[in-house]
Amino acid sequence: MRVLVLGGTGSIGAGVVDALITRRHDVVGLARSANAAKRLVAAGASVLPGDIREPLAWIGAVSGFDAVVQAASAFGADDERVEGALVDLLLGRLGTTDRPQSLLYTGGCWLYGASGDAVATEDTAFDPLPAFAWSVAHVNRVRSASHLRGIVIHPAMVYERDGRVFERFRRDLDSHRRIRIVGSESVRWPLVHRRDVAALYALALESANAGAAYNGATVDSVPVGEIARAMSRRAGHSAPPAIQTTDEVAAELGEWARGLGLDQRMSGWKARRELGWVPLHPDPLADIA
Ligand SMILES: NC(=O)c1ccc[n+]([C@@H]2O[C@H](COP(=O)([O-])OP(=O)(O)OC[C@H]3O[C@@H](n4cnc5c(N)ncnc54)[C@H](OP(=O)(O)O)[C@@H]3O)[C@@H](O)[C@H]2O)c1
Repeated sequence: MRVLVLGGTGSIGAGVVDALITRRHDVVGLARSANAAKRLVAAGASVLPGDIREPLAWIGAVSGFDAVVQAASAFGADDERVEGALVDLLLGRLGTTDRPQSLLYTGGCWLYGASGDAVATEDTAFDPLPAFAWSVAHVNRVRSASHLRGIVIHPAMVYERDGRVFERFRRDLDSHRRIRIVGSESVRWPLVHRRDVAALYALALESANAGAAYNGATVDSVPVGEIARAMSRRAGHSAPPAIQTTDEVAAELGEWARGLGLDQRMSGWKARRELGWVPLHPDPLADIA
């Protein structure tokens, strides 16, 4: 498959590029800078220069692909506008020739809101974090598109041993030896290792049906207090985590960061059943240790 990956240098997208190349797909990454282009080439991908803020400059190229993966995010105050324009163009251009085309769109666990003890599945109604509420419409548009194969993946919190969603914890340990968590120690996060979620994207591109949605969660929840304490222990520190309120973290990082305080559980079993997804990192706390 010839695949264009948007966001191919990001937490999710870089893994997707690797997974697709490993599975012998022909991968091109959109790059907005020389540095991004260099990283894509180093990963074995080709490069399409372009910026998601200026999609008209490169959108014509999508006709040459079997699939587009949207895993880019500018994480800016105007995300709603930028993403809306991008999705309009992708849905308008893909699937308009004889070539069958797919669009794999990235949603996210924060669209389910605070599930508490209930486990969110792909059938659970959305209750999105306000900062991302606009993306529900895009998820629904991609899934219901009839002129292309629209697929949605909802990644859980994406981690690697010391990085991605754990990176802030590591920086806290490096700078003041005490990890800050949001809400309370009992706030639960669904988790997925970045390589596992990347494998899910590749499997979905290869075999998901049009309109399908899959949650990318290896474990349905881990209390953030346990994550913080495991990371502290490994670093030789004994101080318990410090608690930040959601207002404090939003003031520090932006409204999106309220998601760090969502108490959630999310199931990734549908992908295991239907796509044969076998996560290789079933135990995030063991990964930390
Ligand atoms: N990470 C998670 O735990 C998680 C969980 C659920 C859902 N999600 C969703 O997944 C998506 C990707 O998240 P992520 O964590 O992978 O983000 P990320 O690590 O910040 O990566 C963002 C990617 O978008 C690219 N990008 C940013 N602005 C761009 C622009 N103007 N033009 C072209 N490319 C641009 C970046 O390229 P550069 O290298 O040039 O910066 C990078 O490749 C987001 O929608 C996020 O909400 C993430």
